[in-house]
This record gives sequence, C-alpha cells and structure tokens, in this order.
Amino acid sequence: MAAGKGTRMKSRLPKVLQRLAGVPLVQHVLATAARLHARSAVVITGHGAAQVESALWAAVPSSTETALQFVRQDPQLGTGHALQQAVPALADDGLVVILSGDVPLTQADTLQALIAASGGTRLALLTIELADPTGYGRILRHGVQVQAIVEHKDASMEERAIREVYSGIMALPARLLKPWLARLDNHNAQGEYYLTDIVKFAVADGVEVVAHTIEDALQVAGINSPVQLAELERSHQLRQAQALMEQGVRLQDPARFDLRGQLDCGQDVEIDVNCIFAGQVSLGDGVRVGANCVIANCTIAAGAVIHPFTHIDGEKQGVSVGEGALIGPFARLRPGAQLAAEVHIGNFVEVKNSTLAKGAKANHLAYLGDATVGERVNYGAGSITANYDGANKHRTVIEADVHIGSNCVLIAPVTIGAGGTVGGGSTITKSTEPGALSVARGKQVSIAHWARPQKKK
Ligand code: UD1
Ligand code: CA
Repeated sequence: MAAGKGTRMKSRLPKVLQRLAGVPLVQHVLATAARLHARSAVVITGHGAAQVESALWAAVPSSTETALQFVRQDPQLGTGHALQQAVPALADDGLVVILSGDVPLTQADTLQALIAASGGTRLALLTIELADPTGYGRILRHGVQVQAIVEHKDASMEERAIREVYSGIMALPARLLKPWLARLDNHNAQGEYYLTDIVKFAVADGVEVVAHTIEDALQVAGINSPVQLAELERSHQLRQAQALMEQGVRLQDPARFDLRGQLDCGQDVEIDVNCIFAGQVSLGDGVRVGANCVIANCTIAAGAVIHPFTHIDGEKQGVSVGEGALIGPFARLRPGAQLAAEVHIGNFVEVKNSTLAKGAKANHLAYLGDATVGERVNYGAGSITANYDGANKHRTVIEADVHIGSNCVLIAPVTIGAGGTVGGGSTITKSTEPGALSVARGKQVSIAHWARPQKKK
C-alpha cells in the first residue's frame, strides 16, 4: 500500500519516495518482498502515482523473479478500499502478504514466520505490544483467540487501554481475502473502508485468526513526519554499525557512521568519525579510512589508507584503489579511477577515468582525466591533462618513470615517452621521445638593473 498522501511530511515528494539509508521507503519494502521470492509485488499507488511508479520502474531491476505491478487507487478511501483495487492483480491460488510502503525495516525472516503462521489457511496478523499504543488498531481477544481489530478512533476507553496493536502487516490466502474485501463498509469514525474489518469476517466464517507477535518495534515503525524519518534513520544506522563491529570492523564512533548501501570489510578495518558509505563499497584487510570521507561504489584493497575529507564515487563505472595506496587528505576519485598498488594521491587531486600503475604519485593540486599513467610516474603539483577539446575527450599517456614538473598542461591526445621529463610550466601539445627533457614555455628574459616606473607627483 503506497497510495497515502503523507501530509505530515510537508513535502512535494510522495511519502513513500522519501529516503531511508539513501533508498526510497517503498523500495525497502519491495526489496523485502523480493527476499521472500514473491511471485509478484503489487504496488497500490494513488497520491503522486505517476512519480512513484516511474521511480520504482527505474529502481527495480527487471530481471528479478518478483514481477512488479501497479494498481491505482483514486480517490483514497481507506486501506480496505486500497486492497479492493488490487483484487484483479492477485492470483486466486496465491498467499497475500500486505505491507505498507511507509514501513521500511521489516525483516524477511519475520515475514517468513508470519507466512508460516498463516499456513495458507489462516489469517495471520503481525502484532506488537507498545508502551504507547495511541493511534494504532488494537487487537481484541476473547481469551487467547483474536476476535477483531478496533481502530483507535473507534475504540472505547477500555479498548484503548489494550497495548497489543496491529502492525499494518498481515498474511492470508487470496481466496479468503477477496470475498471479505467485497463485504467491507465505511460505517466507522473515519468513514473509511478499513482493511482491519476483515478480522471480524474471518471469525464469523470460522477461519482461524493468529497473531504473530514480535518485540522489535523498529521492524514495524512507520514514517509520518521528518522527525520520525530521522529517528528511524539513526536507529537503522546504529544497527548497521553494530553488525559491522560484530564482524570486527572498528568504528571510532558508531553514532557517527552512515551506510547507504552495502559495505563489505576485511579484517582490521578502521573507520574514523563522520564517514558516509554508499552504493557498493568493499574495503580490504587493514584499510583505514580517516574522518569525514564520503566513499561510494568502489573497491579499496588491503592496507590502503584513505586520509580525511576524501571523496570517492565510482558511480556505475566504479573506482579501484590498490594495495597500500595512500589517498588524500582532500582527494577526489571519480568514475573509472583505477589505482594500482602503492599509488599516492594527495590533497586537491582529482582523478577521473584514468589508470595509474604501481607506485605512481600525484601529490598536490592536480587533475588526471582520461589518462594512462605508468609505474613510478611523478606528476607535479598543479599539472593537468587537458582532455577535452570542447567537443571530444582524448587520452593522455604518460609512460613509466616519467617526471612531470609543476604547473604543466598536457594537451591530449599526447604521449610522454618512458623516463622522460617535462619541465615545470610547460604546455605540451606534441608527443615526446623516451628519455627526453621537454620544455615548452616562454624563455626567461632578465633585464639587469631595471628601474620600475615611478608614481607621478
Ligand atoms: C493502519 C491500520 C491500523 C494499524 C496501523 C499500523 C487500517 C484501517 N488501520 O492504520 O490498524 O495499527 O495501520 O500502522 O488499516 N493507504 C492507502 N490507501 C488509503 C489509505 C492508506 O494506500 O486509502 C496506505 C498508506 O499509504 C499507508 C498504509 O496504507 O502505506 C497505512 O495507512 P495509514 O493511513 O497509515 O493507516 P492507519 O490509519 O495508520
Ligand atoms: Ca489513516
């Protein structure tokens, strides 16, 4: 269910597209559905339907075994009405698991247990006891037997004292759900079609209703406001941090760590405060990451050190950093940066779509774009590859053991032959021979005893 408006977010963006750990809320829910090997995922959209649908088509790979389908609910007349719209999309022999697009952190094993509780014959409700159940549907029991769910606004004072609430998640066979949906009415405090009324129908029809109760409130926490979104983000981040520490990763401060994707770590990885990891990141044994780094979509080999304030994002192409490399502080590695072992990239150096062979160094204020850099090359401060002629990109090749002086411009396409030297301040437009010294700048002129002009009196 993803049709609701989310008024309290006070956002132009539909609520289910707000992000938790960098991913839209509803996409977390779909990822969980995929982990259940669901035949299909039916997303009920309404508010901002077109936006939600296109965001999900773009985000969910078409190769997954769980087929993505959308049904629209317009206007939105309640959760039962939402499910009524989905009826044609639900196979009669299927088991339906009903999830909310704004409840992102339910775990697949919890839902597996709920499915097992349904057993293909029963109505299984995911419930939880809350210290403050205000606003939730309460679970009414007769003895141990679940009798009904009463919505907060419809509940009596005694019913409101019940602390066991319906999480918004249930599992049941489609063949039972469909006729019950047809019987719903909106004669209640909110004038809505309540999905939760089907519990009464189950009891009346002699179908067993089972409550699967969990204790982990994070798994059923819904998002209604920016404050709740931020709280859930911190709780989720803390859990991810704890899971990494249990694997041996040393986080300087788990409260100042953010992972928006997948992070794989070898042994003895150390991460200082305020680092953000996104997309797919892998850190080899003994990698150290300094404070305030943003690292996305890259592979960092064993023993590499990423100094503070470094920004790495490989986007789709990826970035690789070789064993024992030293990166930063204040370095920027962009898509296609492939650095071999023991490469050094220093402060204010940008590398894009370039390979640097073992031991190459660019330590200060430099740009390497579309370049192939040989072993042990030393690339001077302030030097750049001019890779773009205004229409096309061209490659610069710097062969092994070359020394590029400071403040050079290498205008691509160009090759600097192995072992060559380029004098500081040169603008190189023609390829150079191996071993040559190339200097391309105005010759120095010095005029002896030159008197500067004087100010007129
Ligand atoms: C619902 C349950 C309540 C439960 C609570 C858990 C009902 C009647 N009540 O209450 O028992 O304790 O969830 O959080 O089901 N939605 C639609 N179309 C609509 C209305 C809602 O798609 O017409 C979607 C919303 O986008 C949301 C989900 O359904 O993803 C739940 O809706 P919400 O209004 O938050 O449900 P509650 O009234 O809080
Ligand atoms: Ca509501």
